[in-house]
Amino acid sequence: MKRFNGKDFLSLHDYSRDELYFLLHTAQHMKSQTRAGIFSTALRDKALGMVFQKPSLRTRVSFQVGMHQLGGTALYLSPEEIQLGKREAVKDVARVLSRYVDGIMARVFSHEDLLELAEHASVPVINGLSDLLHPCQGLADYLTIMERFGRLNGLTLCYVGDGNNVCHSLMLGAAKFGVRMRIACPDGYGPDESIITQAEGDGLDLTVTGDPEEGVRGADVIYTDTWVSMGQESDRERKVRAFEGFQVNAALTRAAADHHIVMHCLPAHRGEEITDEVMDGPHAAVYDQAENRLHAQKAVMALLM
Ligand code: CP
Ligand code: NVA
Repeated sequence: MKRFNGKDFLSLHDYSRDELYFLLHTAQHMKSQTRAGIFSTALRDKALGMVFQKPSLRTRVSFQVGMHQLGGTALYLSPEEIQLGKREAVKDVARVLSRYVDGIMARVFSHEDLLELAEHASVPVINGLSDLLHPCQGLADYLTIMERFGRLNGLTLCYVGDGNNVCHSLMLGAAKFGVRMRIACPDGYGPDESIITQAEGDGLDLTVTGDPEEGVRGADVIYTDTWVSMGQESDRERKVRAFEGFQVNAALTRAAADHHIVMHCLPAHRGEEITDEVMDGPHAAVYDQAENRLHAQKAVMALLM
């Protein structure tokens, strides 16, 4: 396990295809053994510090429960408590936490802060979402897709919506797993050039289109996320106007393959990027994704910490 032990988990780009598959297979195994409890001492007496600059349901609960199931403990550190970079310099937070805990999970605004945490921490740092990336979500999502289709290579995933952190991690994962990716978004709301370069450098087969129906046509997976990410609230009106026509609704999903699944990282804004009908419909895999955050992150923590 040398190649994992002590490593950070900041971006899917930092892991090879084989390593990502190893994480997925470990997660699948841990998921199947949850009741048997055979991993219940894997992180005995270990602690995870969870630094949050933004709200969370899934990330907070899945990491906390995950640590508990592995025999360790997790500490929730709220935005008010730590005030990363305000009450205390990021590097001091990293150095001090490293004296108490065996791993740090951080949800931050600036990806640079995460890189700085990782640079100065002597324990693994796990990205629990930054403005740029959401790798834990991406890993859980590919676990979900693999469960549903029995494979990843050769599938087509269409992401409809904002070229954001979730979209970026899906792209970096798709590149490694051989998933074809289409992104349907309004002009000016596509993914970052830097991520396109990284993902295409890893072999991503990518199409960006302004026509959601063209993007979704024949796709195995339709994915969407909020149009207004955390921290962008003041831009809400403009973004909601720009994304008109990019809603994942029943009419749009009819263009996908009959066997398609619909994914959303949650929280969803029902009636905006996705309708109730699709969220609650037979193709939706959204709660499996949420559950798989737990299993994917347990694999990450058990291997890194
Ligand atoms: N998908 C996700 O990260 O959810 P939370 O923001 O609730 O953690
Ligand atoms: N793109 C969303 C994901 C939330 C899990 C955000 O950053 O708010």
